[in-house]
Amino acid sequence: MTLFWSIYISVLSLGTIVALTALLFGIRKGQRPDTTDDTVGHAFDGIEEFDNPLPKWWFMLFMATIIFALGYLALYPGLGNWKGLLPGYNEAGDGKPFANGEAGWTGVHQWEKEMVRADKEYAPIYAQYAKLPIEEVAKDEKALKMGGRLFASNCSVCHGSDAKGAYGFPNLTDNEWRWGGKPEDIKQTIIGGRHGMMPAQGPTIGEDGVRNVAAYVLTELGGRKLPEGVEADIAAGQKIFAGTCFACHGADGKGTPSMGAPNLTNPSAFIYGSSYAQLQQTIRYGRSGNMPAQLPYVGSEDKVHLLAAYVYSLLHGDKAEQ
Ligand code: HEC
Ligand code: HEC
Repeated sequence: MTLFWSIYISVLSLGTIVALTALLFGIRKGQRPDTTDDTVGHAFDGIEEFDNPLPKWWFMLFMATIIFALGYLALYPGLGNWKGLLPGYNEAGDGKPFANGEAGWTGVHQWEKEMVRADKEYAPIYAQYAKLPIEEVAKDEKALKMGGRLFASNCSVCHGSDAKGAYGFPNLTDNEWRWGGKPEDIKQTIIGGRHGMMPAQGPTIGEDGVRNVAAYVLTELGGRKLPEGVEADIAAGQKIFAGTCFACHGADGKGTPSMGAPNLTNPSAFIYGSSYAQLQQTIRYGRSGNMPAQLPYVGSEDKVHLLAAYVYSLLHGDKAEQ
């Protein structure tokens, strides 16, 4: 904040306190020391006011609030650019400076200190689990609890608190994996993120091609029926699939995890919808689902290990839905 505002705020805050203190003592000065039956002389609708001194407890309470305010303003950053004298806020607690390079108490600094303290406390526990294979960790009740909490704070925004996904975000509790469901695949997905890229097919195969190949995917691969009244040349669609789509989705349409090309034989797991219209949309314009790398947000590979175990347990653990 500029010097002007810093001074403005300080003068206003301290000025108010000084003025209130002056008022308090000003009133006290002219007062008689004892309680009497005299009134101050004015009446409002017959209501009069005794001319008594301020009650002592009230006066003391008022003084206490003034002293508290001054103490607070000394310790915390309430006066413009004043950083406050609260001890322990020179660095984050691990010898490193705070992320913004400044010192003194702020809400963010307090949070950073708490994170450092939590990391110190929990890092050894995370490290112990990190030594075990993910399949083992996925059976450990305590590890799964911690993994579940990490999932709730890092992943549920996209994948849902039940990990069942939403439009554009895969379900992590089913046995369909775009990028592979082995423990190490899941861990790699979390660490580095994933970017599925299907280029628009409309320009190369044309509108008829889009309709036909969508029909082929829905019926021959997906085992579903076309909507009432829709005519499509499924044999032509098959040709397009064998000439174009197979390169990524495989000749049998079961997908290629190394490219994130999904299995097309299970329409109920499609993340962009499985209606005939939605399929055409996907094929015509392509799709580009992106999961950002999570390691920077999660904070350490040991925590990712726990997260991978949690995700793995959704399908393989005791509580997995059969
Ligand atoms: C260059 C590789 C590539 C080609 C060629 C390709 N796809 Fe894809 N396809 C992908 C990838 C990768 C995804 C996942 C995109 C995402 O996750 O956002 C995908 C997604 C899809 C989906 C969406 C599934 C869902 O979960 O909603 C359908 C349907 C699909 N492809 C059908 C086809 C058809 C039909 C063709 C041929 C006309 C085709 N693809 C050609 C790579 C490809
Ligand atoms: C910003 C949204 C977002 C966040 C946050 C996010 N994901 Fe994802 N995740 C996605 C998207 C989108 C995909 C699908 C990428 C694609 O189209 O291939 C995905 C894919 C995945 C996959 C692969 C699924 C498969 O079928 O192979 C796993 C596993 C996964 N996420 C786990 C996690 C975990 C664990 C976290 C938390 C640490 C997380 N994700 C956080 C958006 C997100």
